[in-house]
Amino acid sequence: MVPAQRSGEHRDGERRSVDLYEALEFLELYYTETRPASSLEQRLHQVRDEIAETGTYRHTNAELTFGARVAWRNSARCIGRLYWQSLRVRDRRHVDTSERIADESFRHLRGTTRSGQIRSTLTVFAPDTPDRPGPRIHNEQLLRYAGYRSADGTVLGDPRYVDFTERVSSFGWQPPASPGRFDLLPLMITGADGHTQLFDVPGDAVLEVALSHPEFPWFAELGLRWHAVPAISNMPLVIGGIRYPAAPFNGWYLNTEIGARNLTDTDRYDLLPELAARMGLDTSSVRTMWRDRALVEMVRAVQHSFDTAGVKMADHHTESERFLDHVAREKAAGRTCPAEWSWIVPPMSGGLTTVFHQDYDQPNPHLRPAFLPPQL
Ligand code: ARG
Repeated sequence: MVPAQRSGEHRDGERRSVDLYEALEFLELYYTETRPASSLEQRLHQVRDEIAETGTYRHTNAELTFGARVAWRNSARCIGRLYWQSLRVRDRRHVDTSERIADESFRHLRGTTRSGQIRSTLTVFAPDTPDRPGPRIHNEQLLRYAGYRSADGTVLGDPRYVDFTERVSSFGWQPPASPGRFDLLPLMITGADGHTQLFDVPGDAVLEVALSHPEFPWFAELGLRWHAVPAISNMPLVIGGIRYPAAPFNGWYLNTEIGARNLTDTDRYDLLPELAARMGLDTSSVRTMWRDRALVEMVRAVQHSFDTAGVKMADHHTESERFLDHVAREKAAGRTCPAEWSWIVPPMSGGLTTVFHQDYDQPNPHLRPAFLPPQL
């Protein structure tokens, strides 16, 4: 058994100062790219003194915003990076209790959703300090659906979140009286005081789209839906040596994320067999390509439903073109654009999209600022 972490102390009990070199490297980048009125020399001195005295330093609001935007720009798996400069950054570094983080996360959702006119938004909560880890949100995203495993091994809901659903349940969460396929999970948040609590997401902070198909009237009867906003909440943001463990961020969905993965992966909702049966396809052999045909109709339904509901959603063809614009712009600015091909190429019609036919700069795990892999 792993001993529980004492509150107010890092896991190994050590005091952790900010790495001066990482701070300087970030400030140089910030000054080179944004050319602020103040002098770099002066700022470097200030930060060096602050770190010597307190073990850490405080970003200015402008540094924080720039750092978060560049962390997005450096995200090798994201096809939507053309818009990196438009990221809206909500500075909530003074917020470190679980109650207030929940409340600010709900405000984040309301402020980004805007009835479907989604805008890319990030909220930064309190950072780690030399004496204690910062707060953290345990959910992978602010909005996710529960998965319930029944005695016969089948899963109701999203199989990806069976373990997390069990975790919050053992923590006291009560699923709805009659559990369904799309029950929103509560937020599980640990404050900087080490205290963990659950919070149900209020209905007015969530927009969901009921799915229908442009030609199949029966599609709506399947009762499928998805939430409008994908908001990643468990990737620490690192800027200039400072780690912000709770910094939820969102863009808007790409059609295939929902239609060709969440609803179709065999270890997610696995809905292609049901869809193919309703379409009357011959499923006796993979060679009839019933999966491929059903997949296209699933993604069409997702796109159609979001479009009709007036909820912003990208399509894989357009986003592919825009990503190549972004790569060209980065090159023109004298920068590389690291990208992971297998994440950039959409999970359907790969070769029909322009991003398929390109090689990209190797991702560099040490590139900063960055969003780090989730801590488990
Ligand atoms: N693929 C994830 C999901 O389906 C979302 C990842 C972030 N996507 C985005 N468009 N910003 O929930």
